[in-house]
Amino acid sequence: MNNSIAILGAQWGDEGKGKIVDLLTEKCDAVVRFQGGHNAGHTLVVEGKTTILHLIPSGILHNNVKCIIGNGVVLSLDALSEEIEILRKSNITVDGKLLISDGCPLILPVHIELDKARELKKGKSKIGTTGRGIGPAYEDKISRRGIRLGDLSNPETLKDILKELLDYHNFVLKNYYECKTFDDVKMYEKLLSDYETYKKYIIDVPEYIDLAFKNKKKIVFEGAQGTLLDIDHGTYPFVTSSNTTVGGIFTGSGVSPKKLNYILAIVKAYTTRVGSGPFMTELFDNDGEQLSKIGHELGATTGRERRCGWLDLVALKRSIVINGFTGICLTKVDVLDQFKEIKVCIEYKNNAPVYKNFDGWMTDITKIKNYDDLPEKTKIYIGAIESYLGVPIDIISNGPGREQNIFKNKIL
Ligand code: GDP
Ligand code: IMO
Ligand code: MG
Repeated sequence: MNNSIAILGAQWGDEGKGKIVDLLTEKCDAVVRFQGGHNAGHTLVVEGKTTILHLIPSGILHNNVKCIIGNGVVLSLDALSEEIEILRKSNITVDGKLLISDGCPLILPVHIELDKARELKKGKSKIGTTGRGIGPAYEDKISRRGIRLGDLSNPETLKDILKELLDYHNFVLKNYYECKTFDDVKMYEKLLSDYETYKKYIIDVPEYIDLAFKNKKKIVFEGAQGTLLDIDHGTYPFVTSSNTTVGGIFTGSGVSPKKLNYILAIVKAYTTRVGSGPFMTELFDNDGEQLSKIGHELGATTGRERRCGWLDLVALKRSIVINGFTGICLTKVDVLDQFKEIKVCIEYKNNAPVYKNFDGWMTDITKIKNYDDLPEKTKIYIGAIESYLGVPIDIISNGPGREQNIFKNKIL
């Protein structure tokens, strides 16, 4: 049986990762975020109540699950405190559950300003970022200029590295972008006081994970964004600034590749994308509008409309090459319930998608619990995707609710 599961987006994000992480962590002991930051928006719907998580791992609704933020995550302490407060209002506590690596690079207000200023300057050629400071924070990490959570424990050195960082960015903000600059004294004091609040959550994440496995615990690794947004393997430059693919798990949490024994792809039964960049199967017709409307395709983080299109199996094949998925969870299949005809891209020809058409099942599948009870036409659609991709579809998600799933194969 699997005791460590990676849950990764196989498209451009928003595939329904949060829902599946919440579902599978019910039987696990810990969930680890290993990349991205509060650019993510993961939606959980439990008994009709919706919770949207950005930074806190999607296991937080379970009382006995540890929610770990690994070193690969860029951490905004402001965003974290907002999220903790929202959860507190719903009577969900993070104490005793939330654990954070001291290696997390911090997202500071200056990174957010830089992110926005850059996008503004780029005008039409902008990436369409979430404006959360993700790119600039990762750049500071790579340039070895960044401040990590653990650095806040040493007030003396913090003062120096913060000043150096702000001197550098203030120069660019003032002279290149002609926008506001930041005061290092104020930020220094704020960071020291934040540290007092958050130091109790800090642990040595690699040690913790290693020990957990030795004690036969089960761990989920929760991806953010999606494969096609990966900094190395995605549709560069229209990508995010982290490794959203399987390799990010090891660098971003400190777990050994030998420990991972199941890699689950979350695949939306059609395709969506937020922000700019290529999108081969994008629709600009009534079908696109219907996907958007029925699928409620509005960004969970920025509220922006998601661009919609048919499922792209060519892109998914690439995603499989990179991640080596063990199995697939096909989500939002119910969104296709009322389509007379469903298309799936199986090839690109002359820079355009070639589609295979399927008869729609024209039936409400949202209450179905067993694979055998699905309409024959749904099974044909699912079977065709499975055989084209050569990876089993182990789970079918047929609604936003925690209970709306069909397990075709047992994975835990
Ligand atoms: P994530 O970023 O991958 O966690 O996905 P998001 O939460 O950003 O977007 C997925 C959206 O689809 C959310 O509103 C979910 O509640 C919803 N959702 C997830 N799975 C299903 C499903 O199988 N059917 C339907 N209709 N909605 C779903
Ligand atoms: P989840 O985890 C969808 C997109 C942005 C933009 C690009 C770069 O909910 O699937 P960034 O702010 O990261 O520098 O923006 O990446 N993007 C997402 N799109 N879902 C997400 O997260 C995303 N996080 C970032 O729209 O195109
Ligand atoms: Mg999302």
